[in-house]
Order: sequence, then structure tokens, then C-alpha cells
Amino acid sequence: MALDRPNDLNAFWMPFTANRQFKKAPRMFVAAEGMHYTTAEGRQVLDGTAGLWCCNAGHKRPRITEAIQKQAAELDYAPAFQMGHPLAFDLANKLVDMAPDGMAHAFYTNSGSESVETALKIAIAYHRARGEGSRTRLIGRERGYHGVNFGGISVGGIVNNRRMFGSLLTGVDHLPHTHLPENAWTRGQPEHGAHLADELERIVALHGAETVAAVIVEPMAGSTGVLLPPKGYLEKLREICTKHGILLIFDEVITGFGRLGSSFAAEHFDVQPDMITLAKGLTNGVIPMGAVLATSDIHDAFMQGPEHVIELFHGYTYSGNPIASAAGLATLETYREEGLFERAAELAPYWEEALHSLKGTRHVIDIRNMGLIGAVELEPIAGQPTKRAFQAFLDCYEKGVLIRTTGDIIALSPPLIIEKAHIDQIVDTLREVLDALE
Ligand SMILES: Cc1ncc(COP(=O)(O)O)c(C=O)c1O
Repeated sequence: MALDRPNDLNAFWMPFTANRQFKKAPRMFVAAEGMHYTTAEGRQVLDGTAGLWCCNAGHKRPRITEAIQKQAAELDYAPAFQMGHPLAFDLANKLVDMAPDGMAHAFYTNSGSESVETALKIAIAYHRARGEGSRTRLIGRERGYHGVNFGGISVGGIVNNRRMFGSLLTGVDHLPHTHLPENAWTRGQPEHGAHLADELERIVALHGAETVAAVIVEPMAGSTGVLLPPKGYLEKLREICTKHGILLIFDEVITGFGRLGSSFAAEHFDVQPDMITLAKGLTNGVIPMGAVLATSDIHDAFMQGPEHVIELFHGYTYSGNPIASAAGLATLETYREEGLFERAAELAPYWEEALHSLKGTRHVIDIRNMGLIGAVELEPIAGQPTKRAFQAFLDCYEKGVLIRTTGDIIALSPPLIIEKAHIDQIVDTLREVLDALE
């Protein structure tokens, strides 16, 4: 297949990639099935990251493939505005059915970034619809990742994403992150740090509650290195938001669809947000699709005025696209049929033991985990942050295991179909690679 090995890699400007390094020594996948990718050289690589935290049911799942093929042959596209098709409604019903109590409506997007922008806009418009138009301030958190669009980078807390554009949206503030040194080597939720939610009281007092629209946090921060919420922290955030009439948005783009062993993190931590942003696992990563789940209270605030008038001036050409909807329905059915969320919960103790067995391995300064997610943090090379972890990524790839790194943190999030032998392979490979690393 000519396209498998293109000679000229120049035209494609790759996202979040060291382009020059990649193009000197390309790493190309040409096929995938179950837990494995196949490289252009014909090697099998174990997927330790579910693609980009999205292929929760593993790869090339027959039900999803068939649903996409069938839908493409039946109804390829339907206009998303002022027209509908049954699958988008069906999927919305299934999503709110599996979501925590109170989530009653789904608004479709095409990615996690768009879900975040959508939720932030809904929050501001919701307050305005209720006559509280002064509530426009948005509060995120340090080390938060909410995608790459203007709203997301503004409430997000990653300096490289923010330094060039993060200040263009005004009226944004940040909670402190919850990653405390005293929580090192924690298994599951850390003990220390619930008090950091009280910072919200300080921020609200500083600006005035009547100016604050919403707080957005990842219940568990994935992309900045698996930062788990301290015990009691999310509960406190909820309490303070409720007290001041502020909406609480959980960005569950990673934690949605079984990653922690429950449908959603909101259910796992038993804390009820006002909106949930989703993407990734919604279609098993196969077709771009995201969604925002919202309560009836939020939705109904918009359902006013003459009935022929559009209530929310927002939407995407591909919102609820028929093929994406078909993929979403087949994905949810695969999760249900195979009990994958329960499987994640069952495997979590084995995963935890295996990961923490890396304590004492060269360069490892912290390990943390929850559900089927984990982080192994490395001591950075002095003056050369990220270099050691990137080398570990390259070496693991050569040894047949795909890991992901963020800074000097190795983040692991395998498909929920993983077997114990695969977990052993990931951990053994990491140990071997780290022991050999300078
Ligand atoms: C919590 C969170 N929000 C938003 C996003 C952005 O999603 P996308 O890359 O689909 O725009 C991500 C992606 O990793 C994420 O982890």
C-alpha cells in the first residue's frame, strides 16, 4: 500500500508533536485490533494509552465498524440545524439514561475542546436568560486541561498552552491545583488537599458572586499527569458553588465512559455537577464526536419566548452527525454488552499493585492510580525537563508498548479490555526501559 509509507512527510503539520524529530524517525501505525497497533514495519505495539485516552473498548470493534458502514450507506449526512434524524435523539436518550441523576439533555459537538466552549457559553447564557447577566466570570484551575480553543486555554492551566493566547479572554480566574508533595505514592484518592477548594471562597469574595458564571474542573486531571482529587475536595467545590449560585462543570472528556470503573467520575465520586463535557470514549475514538450534558434547570431556562425562535445561538455543522451517532450508539452497546466499566473496576486492584511495583525503579519519584489510569512520575534531567520521559516513550515504543508522556510524567490509560498479562507487559517494559535510561 503506497500510502503506508509516504516519502514526503513535509506537508502535514502535526498537532502537539515534535515535528522535526518525528519526521526524522517516523512512528507510523497502519492497523489496529483489540489491544494492539501494527506499525508500518509490521511490528505489534501494545496500546497502553487507549489511543489518546479514547479507545476504551479497544480497536476495530466489530459492532462499531458495522454500525458506521451501515449508516454511511443509509443516511450519510443530515443538516444539524432545524432538521433531525432519529439516531441523534436515540443516543441523547441513552446518554442521559447512563449519566448521573439530574443530567437530562445532551448538546452535540465534535471534540472535547468544542464541548468545553459549548459548556462555558451555555453557562454564561443561562445566567443571562435568568436575568443575571453580570455573571460572566469563569473559573478554572492550575494544571487543568480543557482543550485548545480560546475558552478552554483561558480556563485551563498549562503554561505552554496559555502563554501566547491564554489572556485574550478576560474575566477568568484559577483555583490552585491539588497536586501536593505530601500525597506522593498515593493509591486512589489522596488524603491531603480538600482545603484547596476553599480558595473558591476567596476568589468569589474578591470578584463578587454576582460576577461568577461557572467553575470548570476535570474531576481527575488526566492530560497534566493524572492528578487525583483529594478526599472531600470535589464535595467542597460543589457546596461552595451551590451556596453562591455558580454552575459547576465537570470536564469528563477523559473520565467519562468507564475510565475510573464507573460510567462517569461524577458517579464515582458521588458529586453532582450542573454540566458534564464529553468526547473521546463517546464513540470509542473512532469518529469525532463530543457532547455536553446539562440539567433540566439549565435547559429549561432557555425554553422561553416565541416557539419559532432559536433558543440557543450555538451549534456545529456536524452536531449529532448520523455516522457519529451510529458509532456512539454501537459504542455504548459494546460497553454495556461486555460490561467494560465493571471490568475496569475489577481489574483496578491488579493494575494498582502492578504499577506500584515500580516503586524503587530508577528515576521514579511518584506513582499514582485510580480505576484503569495511572501515572509514573520521573525525576527530570537537570535543566532538560521532559527529555527523560520522552526517551522512555521512544524506548517503550521500540520494545512494543505505547505509553504517553506529559512533562516528565508517564501517563497510562489502557483500553478497558486489557488482560492481566498485558498489564504485566506494560509494567515489565517500563521497568526495563527505566533501568536502562540515563
Ligand atoms: C479533560 C479534557 N478536556 C478537553 C480535551 C480536549 O479534547 P479534544 O482534543 O477532543 O478537543 C481533552 C483532551 O485530552 C481533555 O482531556
